[in-house]
Amino acid sequence: MMEISTKRLILSHFKIEFAEEFTQALSHPEIFEFLPEDVPTLDDIKNIISWFIDRDLRNKKEGFIGTNLAIRKKAGNTIIGWCGIQPFEPMPEKKEIFYGLSPDYWHRGYMTEAANAVLKYGFENLNLNEIVAGVKPENRASISVLERIGFNFQSIIHSVPEGSEFYLNERFYSMTREQFLTQHV
Ligand SMILES: CC(C)(COP(=O)(O)OP(=O)(O)OC[C@H]1O[C@@H](n2cnc3c(N)ncnc32)[C@H](O)[C@@H]1OP(=O)(O)O)[C@@H](O)C(=O)NCCC(=O)NCCS
Repeated sequence: MMEISTKRLILSHFKIEFAEEFTQALSHPEIFEFLPEDVPTLDDIKNIISWFIDRDLRNKKEGFIGTNLAIRKKAGNTIIGWCGIQPFEPMPEKKEIFYGLSPDYWHRGYMTEAANAVLKYGFENLNLNEIVAGVKPENRASISVLERIGFNFQSIIHSVPEGSEFYLNERFYSMTREQFLTQHV
């Protein structure tokens, strides 16, 4: 079972036992203002965690596809959000970083801390050559996180495959392995 430890946080693969606590952490509509999903029910969360567990097993057998990690605060051992790496839906050959936090924990630098650790995992352990991100122009908090951890703005997404219209007009960011290694010597 993989675990990443940072100064204040522990990131680990999801287990089905996390379902109730994770549902509670996500029970705030403001989290989903700029995301394609809605506030999930406990059943939704149980289903998605089962799918994460299955994907983590497939990562081992078939090579890395994607993963999502639960973020826990060391103090209190509470689940406060998620952060992971997966295919970027409108450009599935690229891997995106994705994340979210329960609003009680916003503005304290937690996502900067978690996302930095996930980037390090992506480049150093998974040996990815590039990690990308798509973000709504109005999502200032997420743009600040991306820029603070060293992502570079590339372009506005003007065309997407059918079915991925949610991503139209998002700001597209990228970081290469080389840029990451230069910034983290
Ligand atoms: C995006 C999100 C994860 C940021 O988490 P966070 O832990 O509050 O971020 P940090 O505390 O590390 O702060 C990062 C920066 O954003 C700023 N910030 C945080 N919330 C903000 C807000 N609502 N409006 C403007 N700036 C904000 C912080 O002040 C900080 O700015 P700085 O770099 O200029 O100092 C959180 O707002 C969230 O979960 N949003 C909902 C889910 C989501 O949108 N996910 C990303 C989809 S692309």
